[in-house]
Amino acid sequence: MAQKASNTATGTPGDFPPFNQRHLLSIADLQQHEIIDLLDRAERMVPVSRQERKIHATLTGKTQINLFFEPSTRTQGSFEIAGKRLGALVMNMSVKSSSVSKGETLVDTATTLNAMRPDVIVVRHAAAGAVELLSQKVGCAVINAGDGAHEHPTQALLDALTIRRNKGRISGLTVAICGDIGNSRVVRSNLLLLGALNVRTRVIAPRNLLPAGIEHLATEVFTDMREGLKDVDVVMMLRLQHERANGRMIPSVREYYHFYGLDAEKLAFARPNAIVMHPGPMNRGVEIDPAIADGNRSVITEQVEMGVAVRMAVLDALLPAGDKA
Ligand code: CP
Repeated sequence: MAQKASNTATGTPGDFPPFNQRHLLSIADLQQHEIIDLLDRAERMVPVSRQERKIHATLTGKTQINLFFEPSTRTQGSFEIAGKRLGALVMNMSVKSSSVSKGETLVDTATTLNAMRPDVIVVRHAAAGAVELLSQKVGCAVINAGDGAHEHPTQALLDALTIRRNKGRISGLTVAICGDIGNSRVVRSNLLLLGALNVRTRVIAPRNLLPAGIEHLATEVFTDMREGLKDVDVVMMLRLQHERANGRMIPSVREYYHFYGLDAEKLAFARPNAIVMHPGPMNRGVEIDPAIADGNRSVITEQVEMGVAVRMAVLDALLPAGDKA
């Protein structure tokens, strides 16, 4: 049985037992109690970002390097803000102007950065497994900020926190994830996390965007959006991942929107109080009607806010208390 996720975490943000993981590479590495622990820690970080002086300086004297080999707005920005609100020295490594552009390998980059004695490296890379490889070459904590189509663990955590805050619980809900399932790291992390918390998960996509074996991760698989959305509590939309598609994409954007774009008519199949989510970046008019994205059932900007809280919680949890300044 899933533990009932608490929505009433109180006390100081730092009042938690030690978190027994060195890195955060994958949701698959986490036990149910560790997921709930991170959500509870993040819940307590939310007020820090809402107060006038946005500082909870548990990482003073620590060094955080953000190493992003792929573009990012939300993840990189929120990791930078999270680190700074915790008092860490944060360095954003510009990959374009680094020696990677001169042919330096990932391992040499990792070894070089490791020599600067960071306490944590946050990595996004286009190749699945690259972040885990890097974690084996450095002497500090490593956080996966998205590796190819493999995983994006902090996205799944912030999505779960957003669901819990809006619904008061997670276990027992039905969540539909719609769109480019085959190329998405967000869906993989979400299905692992939601499955661990006993959520009923549905994926909805055209057949050519459904990966082999998806039925082992999701509770139900649909190719018809209206059937898939029937009576769900949460609708999570995904963008078409053109950069990872390898030509395996839809023939017409207009046709895709007709069958799989979330508009008011399709959303009416979900529960009347269903919330609408999107990890971003959104392609308005492709997977989602702008009126729905900006409408009163959308929690998309709240997801971004929870991203800061979750990343503060993860940074704080991974850096051992006895080691903090
Ligand atoms: N959701 C997400 O990972 O967005 P970014 O690519 O902007 O970081």
